[in-house]
Amino acid sequence: MNAALERLTELYARNAPIVMLTAYDYPSARIAVAGGVDVVLVGDSAAMTVLGYSSTREISIEELLMLTRAVRRAVTDLPVIGDLPFGTYEESDGLAVKSASRFVEEGGCDAVKLEGGGAIIPRVRAIIEAGIPVFGHVGLLPQSVRTREGYRARGRDPEQALAIVAESDELAAAGCMALIVEAVPAPVTGIISRRVGIPVIGIGAGLETSGQVLVYHDLLGFSEGRQARFVRQYASARRDLSGAVAAWAADVRARRYPAPEHTYPITAEALEEVRRRMDAD
Ligand code: KIV
Repeated sequence: MNAALERLTELYARNAPIVMLTAYDYPSARIAVAGGVDVVLVGDSAAMTVLGYSSTREISIEELLMLTRAVRRAVTDLPVIGDLPFGTYEESDGLAVKSASRFVEEGGCDAVKLEGGGAIIPRVRAIIEAGIPVFGHVGLLPQSVRTREGYRARGRDPEQALAIVAESDELAAAGCMALIVEAVPAPVTGIISRRVGIPVIGIGAGLETSGQVLVYHDLLGFSEGRQARFVRQYASARRDLSGAVAAWAADVRARRYPAPEHTYPITAEALEEVRRRMDAD
């Protein structure tokens, strides 16, 4: 584990909440850094937030790597976590290690995240054995969601709650350095947090965690339509930015923009010379 990641472990040891935010390009990552986050996740939520796909299953490794490199250029001192896209790790240990290595070598990531337990546990082990730290992800797993209703909370019935706790135990035992717990009732997250001995970072999972993660576009109010129950918007980016574009468009149409201060001067002599030479032609 490198020094950037060790800082997360120190925060956990001190019981200080870890603040994780997604970012997908240079400006969003610079804003995350300026806002003082502890760790940046290049989530495959990029599929929906910045690429306009209808699910996270559609983003390719090449697309996510390109976004990851942009984030890495913006984030010099904090850990950057790469999210292994759907179809890049499930099939075999070899594929999982190859994909994770690309995120480290080509994307400059400090660790990778992958979704699920069960059949994924050997992949997690293989990546860790290859020397790459892993964040596990339990509860709601967006890569497994095929319909809108699929985004419901997980672990609300005893069977599912016990399965999520068991998966969390397995992922911690496999050597994950942290766990993302998504859309799970707070008391179930509490049970996980008290058992696993590694940082538990929640999203829609209550306060009994070692920290929280949110999607940049949800936090800042870029997203359209109904938001998940757990989202709290701290800005209205969509409304404010579209208002700014509308104001500029109105100025252009009314010929109020550009104003004299937005144009470049030329001396009267230089202009006269231009005219004289044109007349001479
Ligand atoms: O892709 C993502 O943004 C995520 C977070 C929601 C944890 O996995």
